[in-house]
Amino acid sequence: MTKHFRCLAAALFVAALGAASPPASADVTLTKEEILTVRQAMMRTNSSYEGVLTAQAKGEVTIPANQLKQIGEAWLRLGKAIPVLFQKGSEGIEKSRAKPEIWSNPDDFKLKLAAYAKATEKFQQLTQSPADKAAVDAAFVEVNKACDDCHKGYRAPAQR
Ligand code: HEC
Repeated sequence: MTKHFRCLAAALFVAALGAASPPASADVTLTKEEILTVRQAMMRTNSSYEGVLTAQAKGEVTIPANQLKQIGEAWLRLGKAIPVLFQKGSEGIEKSRAKPEIWSNPDDFKLKLAAYAKATEKFQQLTQSPADKAAVDAAFVEVNKACDDCHKGYRAPAQR
């Protein structure tokens, strides 16, 4: 039951993302707090895809090809949207776990964003048409690595 629900939840996230596109350029006027809300929501969306893909990698579920394609497309969009959510001026927000190094060390942070964008793009290309499970798992490992590489240096531990 739970597993089916998770697949459905991911599909709903995909649908929601398609309907309400994330801010696409830096001149969208959002308050810092709104940026934080969108940023954290997108990170949780990342996490929901990671959850279903991990379950599939373990052989616990099989994600239908059309859902896999949708996750790929949503991930591609996230890869493009997430950089905007770390724009200048969005630092120092209370309740944010984003480390100040994001803004004091922007060149390295950009590399992390680029690695994530590249990995999500590859994942999307691969899931356009039904791909074999091993290839999907391998592309997912790369996406996962991009998450971890960024979190290691730029995400503060959870407060509780
Ligand atoms: C380029 C850096 C970067 C990448 C790539 C990245 N994250 Fe994050 N992530 C962060 C930062 C920074 C935060 C803290 C955001 C904040 O609180 O302002 C965060 C927060 C989160 C959170 C907590 C959200 C919340 O509710 O507070 C989750 C879950 C998460 N990331 C999952 C992921 C997953 C899964 C991926 C990959 C599929 C990913 N992230 C990719 C930098 C990144």
